[in-house]
Amino acid sequence: MFKEDLFKDKIILVTGGGSGIGFDISKLFLQYGAYVFIASRKEERLQKAVEQLSEFGGCDYVVCDIREKENVENVAKSIKDKKGKLDILVNNAGGQFPSLAESISFNGWNAVINNNLNGTWYMTQTMSKSFFIPQKSGCIINIIANIFRGFPGMAHTGAARAGVDNLTKTLAVEWAKYHIRVNAVAPGLIFSSGFKNYPPELLEGMHKKIPMKRFGTTEEVGNLCLYLASPMADFITGETVYIDGGHRLWGDLFEI
Ligand SMILES: NC(=O)c1ccc[n+]([C@@H]2O[C@H](COP(=O)([O-])OP(=O)(O)OC[C@H]3O[C@@H](n4cnc5c(N)ncnc54)[C@H](OP(=O)(O)O)[C@@H]3O)[C@@H](O)[C@H]2O)c1
Repeated sequence: MFKEDLFKDKIILVTGGGSGIGFDISKLFLQYGAYVFIASRKEERLQKAVEQLSEFGGCDYVVCDIREKENVENVAKSIKDKKGKLDILVNNAGGQFPSLAESISFNGWNAVINNNLNGTWYMTQTMSKSFFIPQKSGCIINIIANIFRGFPGMAHTGAARAGVDNLTKTLAVEWAKYHIRVNAVAPGLIFSSGFKNYPPELLEGMHKKIPMKRFGTTEEVGNLCLYLASPMADFITGETVYIDGGHRLWGDLFEI
């Protein structure tokens, strides 16, 4: 669909690139010529993913918990030592669990906010100060979620993702002077490994409630990231693009 060498000589970091959506984002960037680093907590998962991804191009991994400052700084150091620069950051790592708002514990709330909002921020600020601001170029893509009508059934992640949505706009303005573009992608229900975190009965028949009557694919999310990171999107910043088959506009959300 795109020119084969679209991302030739580009260095990309995809957090959570060892599974699901992040894996396919990484695979697509590799197929279009980029060198890709993936980062997450489970080394075995990362090793296996790099083995599979290497078929498509040069890639490497760094073990990292995005909530830990030292881990995040170590990712920047590894990339600097190995490649000397970073062109694109995809903040894809994250997770949550379904719960009614009144049942979310103090720890559960903090864990989700820490992962999806704070972790994304640590990664964003660290990579920008280490690479994008001094380079005076960069591209950040934040994977959030469908928060268009709030997030009934997962208040914690709704609040965290809304924070990232707002951060996307602020940074787009503040960092335009450094030629850093900052955008977000808001996936609706995407058939991926992430589904295993939810009880099957919660997702059963959900595709019928989406106007397009199907779940999205990880590849479709990856293609949107390719477009947003490409020169074709050079004048797009501070935008959140929904990829949800129309689900934000119409249809029931999760049963609560
Ligand atoms: N699938 C959907 O329908 C959907 C819809 C909206 C939004 N999303 C979001 O899209 C992203 C990818 O989802 P997915 O469906 O591909 O699910 P997934 O397979 O569970 O992917 C989540 C990834 O994030 C990594 N991760 C989680 N916490 C981390 C941490 N503290 N530090 C570093 N890495 C961490 C995980 O790796 P480790 O376990 O190795 O750390 C994993 O690779 C997530 O943020 C998810 O919430 C998904």
